[in-house]
Amino acid sequence: MRVLVTGRDGQLARSLAERVQRHPGVALQAMGRPEFDLLIAGSAAKAIIKARPDIVIHAAAYTAVDQAEDEPEIAFRVNAAAAGEVAAAARQAGARLIHISTDYVFDGAAATPYREDAPTNPLGVYGRSKLAGEEQVRAAHPDHVIVRTAWVYSPFGRNFVKTMMGLAASRDSVQVVADQHGNPSSALDLADGLLAILGKWQAGGSEGRGRTYHLAGTGIASWFALARLLAEHGGTATRVEPIATTDWPTRAPRPAYSALDSGRFAADFGFRMPAWQESARATLARLRAET
Ligand SMILES: NC(=O)c1ccc[n+]([C@@H]2O[C@H](COP(=O)([O-])OP(=O)(O)OC[C@H]3O[C@@H](n4cnc5c(N)ncnc54)[C@H](OP(=O)(O)O)[C@@H]3O)[C@@H](O)[C@H]2O)c1
Repeated sequence: MRVLVTGRDGQLARSLAERVQRHPGVALQAMGRPEFDLLIAGSAAKAIIKARPDIVIHAAAYTAVDQAEDEPEIAFRVNAAAAGEVAAAARQAGARLIHISTDYVFDGAAATPYREDAPTNPLGVYGRSKLAGEEQVRAAHPDHVIVRTAWVYSPFGRNFVKTMMGLAASRDSVQVVADQHGNPSSALDLADGLLAILGKWQAGGSEGRGRTYHLAGTGIASWFALARLLAEHGGTATRVEPIATTDWPTRAPRPAYSALDSGRFAADFGFRMPAWQESARATLARLRAET
């Protein structure tokens, strides 16, 4: 099975490149800039049609949530228009598509984890552009699966876990928002989940075709709870202090509660991500061992 993943240097693509080693039947080709640029119409499509993969995993995205407020055209170009082009190219190449989306398509007014059919209402440009991307994908290619995930961290790239480790090394105390709740998700676990989809398809199935799924770390946390766990296991004496969202204004509003119900994914693909505490500790231990 030949799989092309976009966003080669991003957290998810790098995690897939690592975890695919456990799946000898899957040949992964990762692509990114400069081979193609999602800002340029037709650029990714050309690369996909030339590669002729069996599956495309579209992991590339404009992920700068705050910056998106100041450059909505770029966010929509990359997350919406280009997602549609990638989907259309996958269709033309005869490839199935796995498209990655986000918990930020929701407004956070819920009190229980969001199911896939819950009404969307993104609060900012990033969420709106990703929601538009989902719509483009559904319209362009019937043979797609959309996977919404959340609060992604990994040993790669820039993310909350690495930021907290950096702050812990240089500060006595750090203040972290305690009134936003979601599912911290390891990109390595997410990669395992996507590989579970591929496993089903390799066996000849077409599970998930045309459907949207949620797949995120098991259990709900605040950013404060995540930071406190990292501090407890991080080997530094840094104090973590809870603050409110109003004490830490950001350019883009965030949903106060964006926990996802990943039950449908577990039912269809037999895979559930580990407890967020377990994966956060594992990532921290790995990063500490590597530095
Ligand atoms: N990170 C999160 O917390 C989070 C949460 C929910 C959902 N998601 C979704 O999960 C997916 C994977 O996220 P991630 O954390 O792996 O993202 P990431 O680490 O920020 O990586 C994004 C990748 O997209 C590429 N990209 C951005 N603009 C591009 C362009 N114009 N042309 C070509 N490539 C471009 C980047 O390339 P360069 O390296 O060249 O910049 C980078 O490799 C995305 O769909 C994201 O929306 C992420």
